[in-house]
Amino acid sequence: MYGDPALAKLTDRIADGGVVILSGAGLSTESGIPDYRGETGRRRRAEPMTYQTFIGSVAARRRYWARSHLGWRHVARAAPNAGHRAVTELQRRGLISGIITQNVDGLHQAAGAQDVIELHGSLDRVTCLACGRRSSRALLDQRLREANPRWDAQDAAINPDGDAVLADDQVEAFHLVDCRDCGGVLKPDVIFFGENVPRPRVEECYALTERAGTLLILGSSLTVMSGYRFVRHAAEHAVPVAIVNQGSTRGDAHAVLTLDTPLGSTLTALTALTARTSAIDP
Ligand SMILES: NC(=O)c1ccc[n+]([C@@H]2O[C@H](COP(=O)([O-])OP(=O)(O)OC[C@H]3O[C@@H](n4cnc5c(N)ncnc54)[C@H](O)[C@@H]3O)[C@@H](O)[C@H]2O)c1
Ligand SMILES: [Zn+2]
Repeated sequence: MYGDPALAKLTDRIADGGVVILSGAGLSTESGIPDYRGETGRRRRAEPMTYQTFIGSVAARRRYWARSHLGWRHVARAAPNAGHRAVTELQRRGLISGIITQNVDGLHQAAGAQDVIELHGSLDRVTCLACGRRSSRALLDQRLREANPRWDAQDAAINPDGDAVLADDQVEAFHLVDCRDCGGVLKPDVIFFGENVPRPRVEECYALTERAGTLLILGSSLTVMSGYRFVRHAAEHAVPVAIVNQGSTRGDAHAVLTLDTPLGSTLTALTALTARTSAIDP
């Protein structure tokens, strides 16, 4: 892989600095968290919860929280992988001017990255739809365990986004809890499908993108417009786009460089190569 000309070109770009990262689910698959689409580009698992469905009925919320109660433990146990660590290392060396992630797993931060913009929020927090108060997921987890002392659903398959697969009768036996302050409906502090990213967060990402030396996409099919719009924005502002992703992406036509290789090993090699480049060429 070290002899790969695309990797050499990407190394030169990274070594120039001013890199803005846009990461997606593919960066966390090596940590054991499944992505949505995989290399084929087809969505492989159950439909994710939409905002409209979630607020539409208590049954839908019970289903969400029952599944997520199990799925979150899986996400909470996941550890950052070589790809996350490489991003942190590049940031430490001053080569990165922004990290935007579409992931809700907190793994960039767990690997020590600073100032990460969580475009779609984080599963680590919970928000009340009535009073707006945010609280920790760990606290909710504790409350849900207390409300469901005998609720035990083993061997649930884990879907993306901290979702687990459960039978209907398991879901029906699950007790929800409400906001401790106002009794309102609790929602994970993530952007569901059908919901918009808050405008100031989007503007901040646009501003970072415009000023970038390179916009580097890591592990995203860019199927979701929420991430893809930054690729379009970069292209409109003549900011070069580079993509490391196994499988094609919607952004490929805008990219000056694409690498169809696994992220952990690619980013590790890139980090080693940029260290060498900066040593030779101070
Ligand atoms: N970890 C998470 O937090 C998580 C997981 C699933 C989904 N989501 C959410 O769902 C949406 C999914 O969109 P997306 O574009 O991020 O994901 P996606 O599933 O649409 O695309 C992921 C891409 O990464 C590639 N990939 C997977 N493993 C890889 C690896 N090891 N090396 C290189 N490439 C690899 C896949 O082939 C695929 O093309 C996001 O908005 C995100 O909020 C988050
Ligand atoms: Zn409340």
